[in-house]
Amino acid sequence: MLTLLTLAILTALGNACVSVRKNVNTFSPTELQALRDGVAAMKARPVTDPTSWRYQANIHGTSDTPAQPLWSQCEHGTQFFLSWHRMYLYYFERILRKASGNRKLSLPYWNYSDAPANRVLPLPFRNPGDPSNPLFVPGRFINDGSSLPASAVDYGTAFSQLDVFDFSFSLEGTPHAAVHVQVGGLMGSVPTAANDPIFWLHHANIDRLWEGWLGWGEGRHNPEEPHPWLDQTYTFYDENAQQVSLTGRQILNTRRQLRYRYDSLPPRPSPSPTRATSAPETRRAVQERREQRIAENTRLSLGQAPTTVTLRMEADPAANLREALERAEGLTSVQLVFEGVDYEPGSYYEIFINLPGDPAEARSDGPHFAGVIAPFVDPKHAGHALRVNVRPALARLQAQGLIGGTDLALTFVPRGPVPPQGQPPRPVTARMQAERLSLVIR
Ligand code: C2O
Repeated sequence: MLTLLTLAILTALGNACVSVRKNVNTFSPTELQALRDGVAAMKARPVTDPTSWRYQANIHGTSDTPAQPLWSQCEHGTQFFLSWHRMYLYYFERILRKASGNRKLSLPYWNYSDAPANRVLPLPFRNPGDPSNPLFVPGRFINDGSSLPASAVDYGTAFSQLDVFDFSFSLEGTPHAAVHVQVGGLMGSVPTAANDPIFWLHHANIDRLWEGWLGWGEGRHNPEEPHPWLDQTYTFYDENAQQVSLTGRQILNTRRQLRYRYDSLPPRPSPSPTRATSAPETRRAVQERREQRIAENTRLSLGQAPTTVTLRMEADPAANLREALERAEGLTSVQLVFEGVDYEPGSYYEIFINLPGDPAEARSDGPHFAGVIAPFVDPKHAGHALRVNVRPALARLQAQGLIGGTDLALTFVPRGPVPPQGQPPRPVTARMQAERLSLVIR
């Protein structure tokens, strides 16, 4: 009896020390004020102070000189995307909390995926739209109340992946890069992104989606021992401006190891047929499977108008694609791979496969929609290819008899934010080139 009571008290005490990251749209006026105070206090510190706003942003990326310790460290296009950003947010949150003078402040998140109304930038970040508001920055495409397009916020393709790195790469594209590009301004390029206060709420949501993905089960799990990912170490500054390091192994469980949790996670759909085939042996086979290129096209060049290109498969690859689509979802991906990418910031294209009719009418909720390409490339990782998993779209089109023969027509339609009702769309800037576009099975 006594032990049970002690256990209950200890559990209650333990939970009490776990901070809760909340949806920013549920923040009370007091919580919002604490957030504003924390950001303002960090912005008031000199750039040489590791706990200043600018120094913290520069840890992500910067072209400021002279470079200071730990600047320009972010991981993009690598298997450390999720872990690096989790650690980065963890220490930023501690610095922000201390700077705010409110011990209860936790980093909120921006959940843009749960309802169309939440695809607008949270009001405190754009109103008042002047320097008196530490959460406001000029130059965003959506400061006027425009919405992110629906295609930018969909995490369904990422969540369909069962392997954590396939998931990470897919999530890094959409919604991660897609939201960066659609917010625009500082957020639209890696060396400036973390200067925008909304960056931190966007990444809290990405971190929350990682938690949500794990909770979907059916074999989804973090890297297991032994794995180099678990040993990878990164160094940051804590709230006392002391250097501190974490490894992948130390951040797997947010509640136990980092003492935070989210107030809600994305709802889990009813179990899918992947369950039956997600045995560990099968997953190992997937990890060992080599990538197979089944079609390619050289020198893709996209501009302000919709563009269609054709990918032609030889007879065998077409059979391989059919076979890949018959494998369980989540155990295989079919990716468009863009190599040698050059682009104008703000470029964002929705991709459609075998689209009939006028591309200007194409809709991302139609059967031909396959994903988006939104380049958000870190200069130090510029050689990395960009990948879009189009397997869910191909499987759907195949089931509906909308794929035939060896040709796939890919239509790229430039897209910008959706203006508030009654306003004309703002002109989009779109220009992107790739030295090579190919279709691969993994
Ligand atoms: Cu390191 Cu969202 O970027």
